[in-house]
Amino acid sequence: MKISLLQYAPQLNNLQANLDAISALMAPSDSDLYVLPELSNSGYNFIDRQNAFDNSESIEDSIYIQRLMALAKNKNAHIVSGFCERDNDKLYNSSVLINSEGVAGLYRKLHLFLNEKDYFEPGNKGLPVFDTPIGKIGMLICFDWMFPEAWRTLALKGAQIIAHPSNLVLPYCQGVTPSYALVNRCYTATANRIGTEGDLTFTGQSVLSDINGKVVIKGSKDESQLLSAEIDISLADSKYVTARNHVFEDRRNDVYGDLNIGTND
Ligand code: ACM
Repeated sequence: MKISLLQYAPQLNNLQANLDAISALMAPSDSDLYVLPELSNSGYNFIDRQNAFDNSESIEDSIYIQRLMALAKNKNAHIVSGFCERDNDKLYNSSVLINSEGVAGLYRKLHLFLNEKDYFEPGNKGLPVFDTPIGKIGMLICFDWMFPEAWRTLALKGAQIIAHPSNLVLPYCQGVTPSYALVNRCYTATANRIGTEGDLTFTGQSVLSDINGKVVIKGSKDESQLLSAEIDISLADSKYVTARNHVFEDRRNDVYGDLNIGTND
């Protein structure tokens, strides 16, 4: 299958500009799966909670999602996108999996970064994996990268690819996710934004890694890009890293326990 990572600079308070940028980048392509950045409908660096609220949409009533559905239909594709989600009076930093019929999957960011803690509720949908005609897809969002347990959990649940909409500001993640791909023997697809909003500059370099931790595509630091590659997602079904080493079955849970230990133990 063909996958594309879409790297661009979402604009705060400008849904229409964001939709136009996405449509223009996708126009010449024909992928089966597109991964877009975090908070792609809204921009990131809100001045306060009201500003975040004003930029949010409910899934049922979203111009953004309607437009992505139309794009998914036109391309016969699935789209994973970061989404500033309103659910009654609560806000979530979410990722939606969209096909031609609507929202086929929803994930709400578990690990909130910096000021996100002032605007968003922590995710309450767990770590779901969605079985689609193109493969089993898990989703994480940006700072979730810091928590290897989240990647492991999705892989253990059968995710063949982990789509990772991001607005990265720290310079570490792009070097780390190839290792998550390797140790879980699944694909990882980080679509990161570019540009500056207020005091935050985003680091681009969107990255797709294969099951051996090889970087298949990597974006530039500061350009809008659509980065595409062919992958064989079924390779993620073999968890053998050697003929005698299965990366899940060789784990020693009898020793690790449930990892739920106090930090001072
Ligand atoms: C981040 O989680 N947006 C850094």
